[in-house]
Amino acid sequence: MIESKHFSSIYLPALWDGLYLYKENQKRLYKNRNLYRSNATPINFDTFSREGILTFTVEPKLVEELKIELNKHIGYDMDSVLIDEPEARHYVTFSECDPKIKILHDRILAQLDVINIAKQYCKTPNVRISGFKLRIQEADSEFKQNLFKDVGYKVPTTNYMHIDSSFRRSQIKMVFYLNKVTASNGPFRYVRGSHKIKDPIWRKISRRVNHKNGYQAWDAAGRERFMKLPKFLRHKAEFGNDLLPENKYHKILMDEEVTVTSKDGNFVLFDNAGIHRGGLIETGRRISLQWSMEAV
Ligand SMILES: [Fe+2]
Repeated sequence: MIESKHFSSIYLPALWDGLYLYKENQKRLYKNRNLYRSNATPINFDTFSREGILTFTVEPKLVEELKIELNKHIGYDMDSVLIDEPEARHYVTFSECDPKIKILHDRILAQLDVINIAKQYCKTPNVRISGFKLRIQEADSEFKQNLFKDVGYKVPTTNYMHIDSSFRRSQIKMVFYLNKVTASNGPFRYVRGSHKIKDPIWRKISRRVNHKNGYQAWDAAGRERFMKLPKFLRHKAEFGNDLLPENKYHKILMDEEVTVTSKDGNFVLFDNAGIHRGGLIETGRRISLQWSMEAV
């Protein structure tokens, strides 16, 4: 009896408080969950949902302003600097640089309305901007080119086609060209609609695991190790290097792939769950900003 009284007088009200708070929290959670729905649908949202990619043109004046500030930050002129390696990469942390960079960045994203597209697409009340980096890349005869040199095979025309290993609709990526990009200096390419390809769960998991633990390597030892996996686990995130030209998907992928040059725009927004590639530079230099919006 004593125990029962004790239980009813102390624990029940506490339990009730808990339920009450839970209900309040639940209301708050639901309110936040619906935040993305309260925004008007961005003008390009349907195209992005259907194709998995959007291209925009940021006005040249704004591009130049941003380049001036970035040049000050990195300490040299990105267009004329001589680089020793095929790539010079700078991760830019907004809190550590002149606030003008963040202001220009925010202005560009707001003009294109890409944050709202990302929020609605990822069904999230907010997004986190991450991995903001400047890449200066030049022709590299080795990059994804001589993977099968030891056995006398050339890479196929689908080489470097890949899918990123983040979870579906958890991340949207951006590429912003800061110089003129043509077909020969590493344009970004994307297979339209490929973000909708449905994979069985074991394929999704094995693709990610093989990517993250190095099982998709193309050197002789790596290939041998990969072929020792059971057949149903032999999947690669970067599958384009292994696709034989006679494979029935080869033509479909090549036909559906779009190549984004400066003529199409200088800013690319894409769902990285779709098939993409870029930076295969034959001649010249490509200067770009690359970063992502992640669901919070
Ligand atoms: Fe990628």
